Amino acid sequence: MPIYTGKFITLEGGEGAGKSTQLAIIKSEIEQAGIEVVVTREPGGTPRAEAIRQLLLSRDAEPMPESCELLLMFAARSTHLHNLILPALKRGAWVLCDRFTDASYAYQGYGRGLSLAQIENLERWVQDGVKPDLTLLLDVSVEIAMQRARLRNQSQGLGEGDRFEIEQNAFFERVREGYLQRAQAEPNRFQIVNAGLDLDAVSTATRQVIRDFIRKANQ
Ligand SMILES: Nc1ncnc2c1ncn2[C@@H]1O[C@H](COP(=O)(O)OP(=O)(O)OP(=O)(O)O)[C@@H](O)[C@H]1O
Ligand SMILES: [Mg+2]
Repeated sequence: MPIYTGKFITLEGGEGAGKSTQLAIIKSEIEQAGIEVVVTREPGGTPRAEAIRQLLLSRDAEPMPESCELLLMFAARSTHLHNLILPALKRGAWVLCDRFTDASYAYQGYGRGLSLAQIENLERWVQDGVKPDLTLLLDVSVEIAMQRARLRNQSQGLGEGDRFEIEQNAFFERVREGYLQRAQAEPNRFQIVNAGLDLDAVSTATRQVIRDFIRKANQ
């Protein structure tokens, strides 16, 4: 397991939960505490990982086997971890990542039905013990999240969505349940934020969580 002094924070939740919106708030709180923060996302974060992201999200004629989807996620994670996340953590910066391995469990495990034990094997191999220090789970009903994502895509002229966004409600319900089960299993790492509230209320809850985390990190 690599040694580092920075803190690794991840944001999780379904599409439209408000991850990108809350990310900006967390970033500014960390910066205000005088700490360098590197903001990134998965799948992606480095040029090679962003190229893999395109492969994962685009709706091509060639079907995507579930095992291929999972392996591409971890292939992207490997290059992201070694070339961006770990170097930043080693120089003492904090890393704030929009989705990480919990998403592989939620989407490919609970959503697609792939073996959780298989995902654990990949996690052990690729990450060698590196795990987030804090994970904020933005939990919201599938209905509200879908409505938000739809409105956003419309207002940004984004069309009907990527390969994940076109999934059925039952898939997103399984993803949500998967996230909640992971949060229950690791209550020290996870903080669940009720993301179904209005923007001000969600932002206040997020601020509270990150301020507490910064205070404890400084003790
Ligand atoms: N608490 C909230 N109440 C109402 N609307 C919100 C709230 N939080 C975010 N939104 C809006 O909902 C849309 C989706 O939010 P955002 O893009 O942050 O979600 P996301 O989790 O990053 O989604 P994705 O997984 O698709 O990237 C945006 O248009 C955003 O402005
Ligand atoms: Mg987003």
